[in-house]
Amino acid sequence: MTNTEISNTITNKKTILSGIQPSGKLTIGHLCGALDSWVKLQNDYNCFYMIADLHSITVRQNPASLRSQTLDTVAIYLACGISPENCTLFVQSHVPEHSQLAWVLNCFTGMGECSKMTQFKDKAKSHSDNINVGLFAYPILQAADILLYQADLVPVGEDQKQHLELSRNLAQRFNHYYSDTFKLPEPYIPKVGARIMSLQDPTKKMSKSDPNEKNIIFIEDTKEQIINKIKRCVTDSGTEIKLSPDKPGISNLITLYNIATKKSFDNIEKEFYGIGYGDFKEAVGLAVADYIDPIRTKYLEYRNNKKMLNEILSYGAEKAHSIAMKTLRKVYKKVGFYPLEHK
Ligand code: TYM
Repeated sequence: MTNTEISNTITNKKTILSGIQPSGKLTIGHLCGALDSWVKLQNDYNCFYMIADLHSITVRQNPASLRSQTLDTVAIYLACGISPENCTLFVQSHVPEHSQLAWVLNCFTGMGECSKMTQFKDKAKSHSDNINVGLFAYPILQAADILLYQADLVPVGEDQKQHLELSRNLAQRFNHYYSDTFKLPEPYIPKVGARIMSLQDPTKKMSKSDPNEKNIIFIEDTKEQIINKIKRCVTDSGTEIKLSPDKPGISNLITLYNIATKKSFDNIEKEFYGIGYGDFKEAVGLAVADYIDPIRTKYLEYRNNKKMLNEILSYGAEKAHSIAMKTLRKVYKKVGFYPLEHK
């Protein structure tokens, strides 16, 4: 595909960029907070969906696992319904402009802006033996990801809101110092499912890096595993099935049931009025298992077709690069880097 053909496929629709780190098995949290929105938005926007592998090495990764998890993540994107014909699906490290723009943006970011990031503080605590500069500068790389594609909208879960504020601030600062260069991105956070909680501790976000797998519903889990994990999850005191801030466990299950069945919160509360937690958990387990199972089946099918996954990534890298290089060229010119003259 030539650059002109690529540009023609990128119409005047608004642009979306988002990504997930391939640092472990994807969870139902990724599905509710990000992938569901990605699929909904893909026909109406120019979508760039990436596998954020550069981000994942801020925490030590086993090289073979990282390679394998990168393909797992692509297969999950496809299984959830991301269409490579409608979107640009690529691996972050295949497009060098991400690191190049991140360097420039590093020079526009104050140390205090990074040190106040909640995710940095949390990760510095849980990886106290390896608080590296990459972990600290991680939100600047995320800003580069977004600004390179002039994204209007960034569909993410709630935990990414603070990083998006930094992206906007950096875009504004750069535009103000030089001249209009970057669009200011807006977060797109779903009304329901923006923060799926851990099964055993519903005051904590469900996270793929949690060492206790009982806390997590993985997209790769079998029906039996899902039903068992939900059966054993922690609920609250009382007996009512009701969405409420003082019932984090039951509220999390109601959210999962709503996502799996599309029934309204009112109807769910009516359906389970007077019914005990045990029966409710069984119903949620079955519904979530039925919701995940077709995705899991497709995932296994796509994951076995490495040739197809490689083709999608090679096409995606080319398409992403053709856009990213235009933004980077503009940025380099504005900051005053001397251009390479071609013979
Ligand atoms: P990551 O890989 O931690 O998570 C990917 C996406 O999934 C959402 N998510 C959740 N949503 C609801 N409930 C949960 N329990 C849950 N767990 C994860 C996250 O909010 C996120 O949207 N820094 C990003 C990856 C990234 C990125 C980007 C995102 C790199 N560059 C540019 C957007 C734009 C991250 O670590 O997400």
